[in-house]
Amino acid sequence: MARRKKIYEGKAKIMYEGPEPGTMVQYFKDDTTANNAEKKAVIEGKGVLNNRLSEFFMTGLTQIGVPNHFIKRLNMREQLIRSVEIIPLEVVVRNFAAGSMCKRLGMAEGTPMPRPIIEFYYKDDALGDPLVSEEHIIAFGWAQQQDLDDMVALALRVNDFMSGVMMAVGIKLVDFKIEIGRIWENDFHRLIVADEISPDSCRLWDVETGRKLDKDVFRRDLGDLADAYTEVARRLGVLPTNVTHAPKPTLIN
Ligand code: TMP
Repeated sequence: MARRKKIYEGKAKIMYEGPEPGTMVQYFKDDTTANNAEKKAVIEGKGVLNNRLSEFFMTGLTQIGVPNHFIKRLNMREQLIRSVEIIPLEVVVRNFAAGSMCKRLGMAEGTPMPRPIIEFYYKDDALGDPLVSEEHIIAFGWAQQQDLDDMVALALRVNDFMSGVMMAVGIKLVDFKIEIGRIWENDFHRLIVADEISPDSCRLWDVETGRKLDKDVFRRDLGDLADAYTEVARRLGVLPTNVTHAPKPTLIN
């Protein structure tokens, strides 16, 4: 059987042509990068966990009526998705100060925000994904005002959903990043959540201990990243409780 045509390979995922027009296959790699790929590693099992976790979150979003690209999981590392025209912006929602917000504004990590703060970053690796304002977005044509309003509404709905789901398993959603895409229906487009939602793109802290259960474990050398992601998956019931790491293949006689 011929291998599917590769459309694009990113830092953590590969996109292949889907079986039908308007679809793609999204493959989750074990490759892990931080600081715009200055730091790199292969974390065995990470792709399997993120495939499952993104499926879990996107399915939940579908159930509460938040449109997104997920169609179905195909296997351990691949999912069928709707192809979208990605808006070249990373949409970040912050509930507590962390990461670049602490650096930029000198805030103590964990400071609660008075309300969810939404930021836009222009997706450009060569520029290091700079923070941009709504003025830049409209003036440079990356999105229209209506798109911006829709993106904010989508981001806040994802935030409410994710905050609730995570709090139910004793995890605080500190911040997260989503990407949003356009799907075209004749001359009109609408926006849907795309890319992935996983501990690669969220900050997740244990409510009791403050233990970090997200990619900061890798960024800041705080321990075993696969252990942290497995803990998130286990609490959400996405993995059976007795699995500590993603299962390795075993030989059956
Ligand atoms: P930041 O504090 O580094 O700006 O990150 C905010 C959130 O966005 C955090 O949950 C991590 C996520 N994020 C990504 O998923 N990809 C990225 O390239 C960056 C910079 C952040």
